[in-house]
Amino acid sequence: QMPNEVTIIEVGPRDGLQNEKAFVPTDVKKQFIKKLKDAGLREMELTSFVSPKWVPQMGDAAEIVADSLTEDTRDIVLAPNRKGVNRVYSTNCRAVAVFVGVSNTFNKKNINKSTADSVAEITPIIHELKEKGYFVRACISTAFYCPYEGKIEPEATLKLCKAFVEAGADELSVADTIGMAAPHESFALFSLLKKEFPHILITAHFHDTRKMALTNIYAALQAGIDRFDTSAGGLGGCPFAPGAAGNAATEDVVYMLDRMGIRTNVDLAKLIEAIDLVKPHITRSIESSYYQLHS
Ligand code: HMG
Ligand code: MG
Repeated sequence: QMPNEVTIIEVGPRDGLQNEKAFVPTDVKKQFIKKLKDAGLREMELTSFVSPKWVPQMGDAAEIVADSLTEDTRDIVLAPNRKGVNRVYSTNCRAVAVFVGVSNTFNKKNINKSTADSVAEITPIIHELKEKGYFVRACISTAFYCPYEGKIEPEATLKLCKAFVEAGADELSVADTIGMAAPHESFALFSLLKKEFPHILITAHFHDTRKMALTNIYAALQAGIDRFDTSAGGLGGCPFAPGAAGNAATEDVVYMLDRMGIRTNVDLAKLIEAIDLVKPHITRSIESSYYQLHS
């Protein structure tokens, strides 16, 4: 049973830009976020409160948040640790995404800790965030494959998801970090997660390294998933995951869903304007089919 409506979580300002080598001017990022909201995107990752030494592009997180929060939208920021969450507390942002990799090796490269140590650090932080009334999103990296460890067993992904659900997370965003999952794997894992966690928001996050993001999204739809992380222009990639290309492009996903009669409430013409605005400041080319046909 396909959903009638899908929620798109726009990750362009965060995942999309974090890997860009040249610093995108803060004002351009702010305008990009405004245009994306204007296009109807109601849930968005704005930026991350990570170490600016590790990810210089996100060094302007506080400024971005100060300018970008709006009512009736879910404006999310990433935070990897205590220091990051304390930085969030000095803003008015009310939704935090924590992130951990199923793969130990990847997690070590990304946040300099083993997966178990990360969970141990983040669990009490989630309790605290929930007590304070925050929305908590848990991003699960390398849920299918790891650039260092290869195939990840669904049981291992399930175990990490359980830890976050038990800690009180509102949402699981389950990621194919290096774009290596195939549709049958997408269907199998998301069917399993839907069955295990019927009362948790479950979101699929596909990178498009091997051009399988759209088919993986279709398979996840068939498994009952109605929330997808996508990035305008298909920008993105994790700096600590070699081989991670951009995310599924918002415009290609919205186009497919439109054609299937599934509502997203995203205005494609305005979305193109948002991409046009950021394009002069990024080094990679925009490869999404919809953008190439309509820009
Ligand atoms: P570390 O070096 O082990 O941490 O890094 P540390 O505690 O030793 O701190 C080192 C320095 O960073 C210190 O500064 C800290 O104060 C500072 P110094 O004293 O040397 O001047 N610091 C911070 N500054 C600002 N904000 C903070 C913060 N924490 C420490 N929060 C750390 C550990 C977690 C900080 C680092 O590894 C890090 O920032 N990692 C983030 C990596 C990242 O952003 N990756 C991309 C996002 S995840 C992703 O893209 C995947 C996803 O899209 C899903 C998918 O596709 O798989 C979500
Ligand atoms: Mg990602």
